[in-house]
Amino acid sequence: MKKRLLSVLLIGAMALSLVACGGNNSSSSSSSDGNEAAAGDEKKVESNGKKVGVAMPTQSSERWIKDGDNMKKQLEALGYEVDLQYAEDDIPTQQSQLETMIAQGVNCLVVAAIDSGALVNVLDQAKQANIPVIAYDRLLMDTDAVSYYASFDNEGVGRKIGEYIETKADLANASEPQTIEFFMGSPDDNNAVLLHKGVMSVLQKYLDDGKLVCKSGRTSFEDTCILRWSQETAQQNCENYLTGFYADEDLDIACSAFDGFAYGIKAALEGAGYTADNWPLITGQDAEVMAVKNIVEGKQTQTIFKDTSLLAEKCVTMVQAVLEGSEPEINDTETYDNNKLVVPSYLCEPVSLDKDNYKELVIDSGYYTEDDINSAN
Ligand code: GAL
Repeated sequence: MKKRLLSVLLIGAMALSLVACGGNNSSSSSSSDGNEAAAGDEKKVESNGKKVGVAMPTQSSERWIKDGDNMKKQLEALGYEVDLQYAEDDIPTQQSQLETMIAQGVNCLVVAAIDSGALVNVLDQAKQANIPVIAYDRLLMDTDAVSYYASFDNEGVGRKIGEYIETKADLANASEPQTIEFFMGSPDDNNAVLLHKGVMSVLQKYLDDGKLVCKSGRTSFEDTCILRWSQETAQQNCENYLTGFYADEDLDIACSAFDGFAYGIKAALEGAGYTADNWPLITGQDAEVMAVKNIVEGKQTQTIFKDTSLLAEKCVTMVQAVLEGSEPEINDTETYDNNKLVVPSYLCEPVSLDKDNYKELVIDSGYYTEDDINSAN
């Protein structure tokens, strides 16, 4: 009897605190799934269904669709309500999506930023409204409003790309110099900077001793980064390199930081008349289904497999931690300094994938079916 009374009191207190949390500015907002706004708070309390806003950057790349689906599925399985939004790489759209989520009184925000430093003001609004924020895969920079960060070891991704090139091109023993060009990630994405650092931790010495020759001379991050991870820009850059520097000599290695770049590079090479006989080694990142197909067909050599369901799983434990007061698993408290704080992180392990291990990594594990790969286009 006593217990029952206590739980009635507790539920009452929770209802009050939820109303207080969302009360400031929820009156003018409408629920994104079209439910009557007036019923919103009642619904939250009934199901104890706290609402999580998930802001993803774009649907133009398959990986983020998978990320969004996994997050939604896993959060809903735990009884959370989810507002999943994509901003199609438009910064003001992402800012306003977050503002709307805050105005609706979501209980937690999960954010994969388009521009990691462009959300400072809106995240400040979240902080004022006591809404905890978790950075998803991309670190949120210059803000103290972020509680946790779930990602992969981003420097490790670069190191694995570098090591793959080192081994595959047998750089330690090669007697002839090999040509290489670099296609690095977006300058507004902290991951891209770390990836370049990882690549160069392995390859710089071969550039220095002449075993690798970059004929464009573009090896620094500033010279090789590609805004918004654009496939079109990667293709354009590759076309420019091929016509400007590789008229008399083939390009041997395209060190690409993203599968999307590898598609652009492939198109540029085909346009320039490259065939199986002189096709270069091309790296990538994300193990998108199209990339795996290209790897099977010999049009891309390698990619980095980042298991998005594992990433979502880790991120969901962080959501639970900030909402239910539990402890999330953290394995890095040193690396991810966002200029305001070192964000406690969980870094998943990236894995290099090529023709030799793709079956084991993505087919046997059920991540993709053979049919997904065959029908990718
Ligand atoms: C990065 C991420 C990569 C890739 C890229 C483009 O932040 O680390 O895996 O997805 O965005 O979407």
